[in-house]
Amino acid sequence: MCGIVGYVGESQAAPILLEGLAKLEYRGYDSAGIAVYDGVQVYMKKAMGRLKVLSELTHDGELMPGTIGIGHTRWATHGAPSDTNAHPHFNKDESIVVVHNGIIENYLKLKKRLTEKGYEFVSETDTEVIAHLLDYYYKGDPLEAITKVMHRMEGSYALGILFSDHPAELYAVRKDSPLIVGHTKDGSIIASDVPAVLRYTRDVVFIQNEEIVRLTKENMEFYNIDEEPIKKETTHIEWDVNAAEKGGYEHFMLKEMYEQPKAILDTFSPRIKDGQIVIEELGMSDEEIKSIKKIMIVACGSAYHVGMTAKYVYEGLARIPVEVDLASEFRYRDPIIEEGTLLLIISQSGETADSLAALREAQEKGARVLGIVNVVGSSIAREADNVMYTWAGPEIAVATTKAYTAQLIAQYLLAMKFAHVRGLLDDMGLAGMIEDLKKLPAQVEMLLNNKNRIQRFANRYLGAKDIFFIGRGIDHAISLEGSLKMKEISYVHSEAYAAGEMKHGTISLIEEGTLVTAVLTQEALYKKMISNMVEVRTRGAFVMSVTNVDNTEAERASDYVIYIPKTNKYFTNSLAIIPLQLFGYYVAVGRGCDVDKPRNLAKSVTVE
Ligand code: M6R
Repeated sequence: MCGIVGYVGESQAAPILLEGLAKLEYRGYDSAGIAVYDGVQVYMKKAMGRLKVLSELTHDGELMPGTIGIGHTRWATHGAPSDTNAHPHFNKDESIVVVHNGIIENYLKLKKRLTEKGYEFVSETDTEVIAHLLDYYYKGDPLEAITKVMHRMEGSYALGILFSDHPAELYAVRKDSPLIVGHTKDGSIIASDVPAVLRYTRDVVFIQNEEIVRLTKENMEFYNIDEEPIKKETTHIEWDVNAAEKGGYEHFMLKEMYEQPKAILDTFSPRIKDGQIVIEELGMSDEEIKSIKKIMIVACGSAYHVGMTAKYVYEGLARIPVEVDLASEFRYRDPIIEEGTLLLIISQSGETADSLAALREAQEKGARVLGIVNVVGSSIAREADNVMYTWAGPEIAVATTKAYTAQLIAQYLLAMKFAHVRGLLDDMGLAGMIEDLKKLPAQVEMLLNNKNRIQRFANRYLGAKDIFFIGRGIDHAISLEGSLKMKEISYVHSEAYAAGEMKHGTISLIEEGTLVTAVLTQEALYKKMISNMVEVRTRGAFVMSVTNVDNTEAERASDYVIYIPKTNKYFTNSLAIIPLQLFGYYVAVGRGCDVDKPRNLAKSVTVE
């Protein structure tokens, strides 16, 4: 939930730290800080607010000399956003300094013990406990102190640590929070995520749980929690550096929406070979696919909405019963996992704490887990029994668009594969679906190019207090995502409802002029949806509908209609979501919201 960066080498550290933090700001942006050491003094600067406040305070780092340092961008968990609670944190004589991403669950207990031993705390953070605990155990050997502290801490952490009496060494540690390290041309670097280091190196080492790294200008030495040296493999990052830049777009979100045709293509094309769907990474034989009795899908936020759509696709196409769970619920409900269950964890970041915990819970109960993950080498990708990557590329905007879209494609591919293997989809049916899949990138592009019309419509609703999204079946799942996009970036209250449920309570909220967005892409449900639209319209609602190009009937019950091109009935989500993403985006832009970094949110939710 926060971002950390560290550097040791020949260059001035502060500008490198600030630049790295700028690439990680999506992970947290309520305050930031850096500490730099010049061999004599540790300079520390922290500032509440966006990173640019810190950059200005330090003259882009120029005021902080030194060739070793650590930095942090924060999303507050323990203690409100403030200069004092911002990281880094010192021990009592300011000889040890720490940045932390994660949560120390037993910090209150540790804080009490340390207070009894005379340590004084200046912040409300759990991180300060780490600095004092290191101080308590430090007898001149950083590695020894770090491992002792690791044995005492419960929770999750990625840490960057400096010891002033080891001026040429930077230490980094990880447990359940992401951390990568690499060599630059004149030093070594650590970070929470790849974009922060791409400018300096493409060869990175993913640190695993309970591993420690000692970095110097020339070397990276890796240790386990027993202080034994270990060997690590380097991964070459193929991404285009520009993928993590705005490239002329006003916001990352807009850019990423425009990358959806490519994300769709990149996710399906390597998996279609000679007219067949080939998903090698699934690691399942046809016999095993035939013996799947149930699919359980576990995820959070938009990834959960993908699961909601996927339920209709798996059940409709492959006739496999599907249960969809929010990871935060699944992990505590003592789920029953029967033999023959395939469990899917869907996650863009691959680091979402609840999804990761759900994965572990499922594995403990004997489930076979397939991760559908975007970030290569992330925790979920590593811990799942098998991983199917969505090839959306790096997603920076907090509100997901292209990763969501790629997750949907992965679900379609799996459902088509399962249906075909189980004899429910013949060769001709499969070929027809593949053809429809291939048309999606161009269709999405066409919808994106209609953005001016949606912007004009959005401008009429900048003052809206409530917006409702209704649909049935798959269209309800689309509505859930449309509603989330609206509320998370524009701060306009919105709710998604299964259209048939409105009259069981929610319809009482409809009054003159309330905007209701109706999604109707399922032919079999057109009539039912139109009745629901009439119900709200007669009570004063303004109805905007999103429907298939041939459903002109919808105009009868709508004030404004957006048409999507014809596609397979299971793929409509991939098209109907585009105008809803654009709608949320333009309402947020029109209201002057910080689209890419909405208040109170962070891109990857690595805490519970
Ligand atoms: O990285 P994940 O896909 O596991 O993240 C899940 C949710 O946190 C994420 O989808 C969140 O809801 C986004 N803000 C939605 O735009």
